[in-house]
Amino acid sequence: MADLSTTYMGVSLKNPIVVAASSISNSVEKVKRAGELGAGALVIRSLFEEQIHFDEMTMADFMERAANISPEIHSSFYPPVDAGGPREHMMWVEKTRHAVSMPIFASINAISPGAWINYAKQLQETGIDGLEINYYAVAADPDKPGSEMEKELFDIVEAVRAEVSIPIAIKLSAYYTSTPNVVRELEKRGANAVILFNRFLQPDIDVESEDIVNQMTWSFSHDMRVPLRWIALLYGRTNLDLILNTGVKTGRDVAKAILAGAQAVQVAAPLFENGLPYLSAMLLDLESWMDEKGYRSLEEYRGKVSQKNVADPFGFERAQYMKLLMSQE
Ligand SMILES: Cc1cc2nc3c(=O)[nH]c(=O)nc-3n(C[C@H](O)[C@H](O)[C@H](O)COP(=O)(O)O)c2cc1C
Repeated sequence: MADLSTTYMGVSLKNPIVVAASSISNSVEKVKRAGELGAGALVIRSLFEEQIHFDEMTMADFMERAANISPEIHSSFYPPVDAGGPREHMMWVEKTRHAVSMPIFASINAISPGAWINYAKQLQETGIDGLEINYYAVAADPDKPGSEMEKELFDIVEAVRAEVSIPIAIKLSAYYTSTPNVVRELEKRGANAVILFNRFLQPDIDVESEDIVNQMTWSFSHDMRVPLRWIALLYGRTNLDLILNTGVKTGRDVAKAILAGAQAVQVAAPLFENGLPYLSAMLLDLESWMDEKGYRSLEEYRGKVSQKNVADPFGFERAQYMKLLMSQE
């Protein structure tokens, strides 16, 4: 039987399937169940920067201010009011950490630099194996250049690194002009991994009410192609661990991610769509693909189809673009 073990930021995982930050971690029972069904690790739902600021203002004030910063605030990702403040979150993380033996990561979801960074240290004290930082603010201000937005991210990572000694992963947005440059700058500031990419809920418009609609939608398998390309481009060009997030639906999708160069993948949607036992089905699918191919470990094929290792390195860039477009009748 194939060995599925891997490492993520120096932490040993029995397999590369990590349960992504989501409401699955709202219940310790579900976290335990995910562990029993074979999850390699789990990320606890984020401590949202809004939870930290929440005590300081009324909900109405908050929504008004936040709407100008990030559309995620009006989405289902926004923590329910009963999510409580940071203290409740710390207690929850600690309780979850002690309930299971699999590696557990915590997450901070930030929309601006600030004093919330102190909470990184408190999260470390709960005994978690590593910390995920999900930083995303919509660059809607024409007076603010992209370089300034990026600097905010770099400053945050530098500040968090100064607070904690545990591994740090940065969950990136797919909307940077030069992802490799951002990854290099994050490496300089002490990050240990990048998660490619966060998935944002995009607002829709209801033509009847002529208003914005924010509805939870699941990712599709083809959404995986964006992170897949970037993992393949980055493999061998950074010392950071590359984690593929968004659109991983099957064990064979996990194999694709490893072929591109990922250390591990994160999954949320397939577990909501099919239930937690689907984790075992994904692992069986990965194992059976590896058996068919004769692979005994992930190391044997990690990065095999990265840009660095394929015969046609332009396949991950622009090449074939014109040919493909011209061939459609
Ligand atoms: C119900 C739900 C809650 C989520 N909550 C968080 C969160 O607290 N923090 C975070 O960084 N991402 C959160 N996410 C995003 C997931 O971690 C993941 O990045 C995204 O769903 C893409 O993976 P998928 O294609 O497997 O769904 C959430 C996703 C879902 C579906």
